Amino acid sequence: MIALPDRPSAPKLADRVALVFGGGASGPGWGNGKSACVAYARAGAKIVVVDRVRAAAEDTAHMIAIEGGKAIALSADVTKTAAISAAVEAAVAQYGRIDILHNNVGITDMGALEDITEARWNKVMDVNLTAVVRTCRRVIPLMQHQGKGVIVNISSLAGAAINRYPCYSYFASKAGLNHLTKALAVQYAPYNIRANAIMPGMMDTPMVQQQIVGQYTDAEAMGRARAAQVPMGRQGTGWDVAHAAVFLASDDAAYITGVCLPVDGGLSCLAG
Ligand SMILES: NC(=O)c1ccc[n+]([C@@H]2O[C@H](COP(=O)([O-])OP(=O)(O)OC[C@H]3O[C@@H](n4cnc5c(N)ncnc54)[C@H](O)[C@@H]3O)[C@@H](O)[C@H]2O)c1
Repeated sequence: MIALPDRPSAPKLADRVALVFGGGASGPGWGNGKSACVAYARAGAKIVVVDRVRAAAEDTAHMIAIEGGKAIALSADVTKTAAISAAVEAAVAQYGRIDILHNNVGITDMGALEDITEARWNKVMDVNLTAVVRTCRRVIPLMQHQGKGVIVNISSLAGAAINRYPCYSYFASKAGLNHLTKALAVQYAPYNIRANAIMPGMMDTPMVQQQIVGQYTDAEAMGRARAAQVPMGRQGTGWDVAHAAVFLASDDAAYITGVCLPVDGGLSCLAG
């Protein structure tokens, strides 16, 4: 008779340390980053919540503490290399290691091609794509030293397929992020470091309420229109993204790297 593999006796992410950039939320409610922090903590990880807005990071850390989890809140802007370094140093000083690097920060910029200035284009590239290069350059050497690590990048279905929003820099930055994720996966596989991306589709989050609602007459019309596009007939939530992140960060995904995983209620099936 063959032997059964050991049954896990601890939560999926017990004793892991997760460093989450963009772990606050840009408004009331559960965004992708805030939900991921809480979901990682529920899976047993200690969380370093980093956000440009200190109060947003503190709010997430507070939510985790209420449930008996462990978290610290830091403020850092991912467009600033020195700020990222300081956050990484503070994370290591607090918890001794970084097992999970979660890059959630992302912004949109809607506008006709002729209205996009170079400054606007560069800003989106800087925040959505170059920032991930910055955090990875700082954290990967630590993971190499540790002998293992996991990177989870929050991309977008817009990185793989075009939707009707006029957001050229967003499309391009997220496509770049998908490809960057695959390059990291290949280059660092020999070091036992995995890198995957999640591509959320139509999610109902504070970010959408702020950055996309202007494309519609009001929030209700936006909700109806976005849900109608999705085969499952509804928008997703930050928790849908967070649960996928916990899976990808855990040993359940030990042989999964270089994947750009749609979390989209089937929307990507319609793109082809
Ligand atoms: N909501 C959706 O429908 C949807 C769909 C596809 C992809 N996404 C992706 O999900 C991610 C964001 O999701 P969310 O719901 O957590 O958004 P959110 O806006 O609620 O949270 C992002 C956090 O990042 C912080 N932030 C912004 N700029 C920063 C910077 N320069 N440095 C550090 N922190 C900064 C904000 O303060 C905010 O707290 C983005 O990468 C976005 O592209 C969202």
